[in-house]
Amino acid sequence: MSEAPQHGNLIDGEWVPARSGRTFASVSPADREDVVGVFPRSAADDVADAVAAARRAAPVWRATPQPARGDLLRRAADLLRGRKEDLARLMTREMGKVLVEARGDVQEAIDMADYIAGEGRRPFGETVPSELTDKVCFTWREPVGVVGLITPWNFPVAIPSWKLFPALLAGNAIVLKPAEDTPLCAARLVEVLVEAGLPPGVVNVVHGIGEEAGAALVDHPDVRMLSFTGSAEVGRLVAARGGQQLKRVSLELGGKNAIVVLDDGDLDLALDGAVWAAFGTTGQRCTAASRMIVHRRVLDDFTDQLRGRAESLRVGNGLDEGVEVGPIVNDRQLRRVHSYTEVGVGEGARLVTGGAVLDAGDLGRGHFYAPTIFADVRPTMRIAQEEIFGPTVSIIAAESLDEAIAHANSTAYGLSLSIYTRDVNRAFRAMRELQAGIVYVNAPTIGAEIQLPFGGIKGTGNGHREAGTTAVEEFSERKSVYVDYSGRLQRAQIDTT
Ligand code: UN1
Repeated sequence: MSEAPQHGNLIDGEWVPARSGRTFASVSPADREDVVGVFPRSAADDVADAVAAARRAAPVWRATPQPARGDLLRRAADLLRGRKEDLARLMTREMGKVLVEARGDVQEAIDMADYIAGEGRRPFGETVPSELTDKVCFTWREPVGVVGLITPWNFPVAIPSWKLFPALLAGNAIVLKPAEDTPLCAARLVEVLVEAGLPPGVVNVVHGIGEEAGAALVDHPDVRMLSFTGSAEVGRLVAARGGQQLKRVSLELGGKNAIVVLDDGDLDLALDGAVWAAFGTTGQRCTAASRMIVHRRVLDDFTDQLRGRAESLRVGNGLDEGVEVGPIVNDRQLRRVHSYTEVGVGEGARLVTGGAVLDAGDLGRGHFYAPTIFADVRPTMRIAQEEIFGPTVSIIAAESLDEAIAHANSTAYGLSLSIYTRDVNRAFRAMRELQAGIVYVNAPTIGAEIQLPFGGIKGTGNGHREAGTTAVEEFSERKSVYVDYSGRLQRAQIDTT
């Protein structure tokens, strides 16, 4: 481990160790021997330094014209384009997703930088009529202040970009606490911003684990907003502790997404989508489809074919171009995924394929799990209700469109739901009735594009949306301004004629 490169926190433009000198290692999930880097294990004192730096930098950044803030993101987009392949390879090594998906992850950040750069020159307020004469009213947006971003490992470049870029455009100063499984990906992304000309202190990075660095960021009184993507369990803590201090808290939490396959749907197309959404990214997306709700008439056919396709997937190190399913991010997650196989068997579901740790040959170097399918799943079973975050899918039978929609809506989450049907009437009913922030027709539950709002209802979040037209809104405050040029006191609600 001593030979692995040492990295620092970014505080006030300098890469520095934790005050305590403590460190942790980022290790490749495909190969436990491959230490990607050693990072500061930060605590509350490091977070306090980062927040203080952000507070000092905030006035200058806030005073920078918004189009100039956008220009910086345009330069960042160009730098990211030039580094796409290098960043993708690093991501596959550090997080495990296969190369083709890692390239997509970086592309999502490039798209976001391009999109938000353009937002720099868009109007962002309203002019509103007054009820009184010689008086104008308008709104504009202002930064929230110092914002704390806590990001997950499953989209190690894309998700930090969803938060960093709009928060910067809105004029905020930032402290980022990236996931401890993917610290180098986050550091490389922030380096791009620094190279693009970001003044010191506007973005600070504090590495470490959630219970220490993350909790200190959540609790720091000078952090006015928190944006968190991760588990529902941690999200509740962030909301409760942030709420105590009346912070704005934006949460993007779990999912238990489903693909509905009706008997009039294109079965081959549905299978293509099911394999991609269930086993792509090894099921480690908040948008992954972990339930297949299939009309009874096509159930056996669908189950057989999904099994065949799952069994032919190549599992391995994502750096190998032929591999389709990479490792699980770490050993703890691997054990969690496997524990759900035991839960499913215990609940009486039928294990169709998979359900085992893969450790033959080179796979033994990392954390690999077989694509896993359960059939005869009842919608109330734990494997049909709880987010597993692995390559495990439950097949649930439905007798009708209504029953399929009821099953799809029967979880605590509401992120992404999909339906395969060729019947336009059924498709529109589903679009209306499915309880989710994102609905797909004849496409799987993954693959959201950055120019649309991203987020969910019910237990998936708390009403905020990332990306799209709402991206900058999320990170800004509205101010209402009244200018009375009548030269006399005019009383609203009273002196109206
Ligand atoms: C996530 O899983 O946390 O829609 C984000 C998608 C990707 C983003 C997923 N564009 O699957």
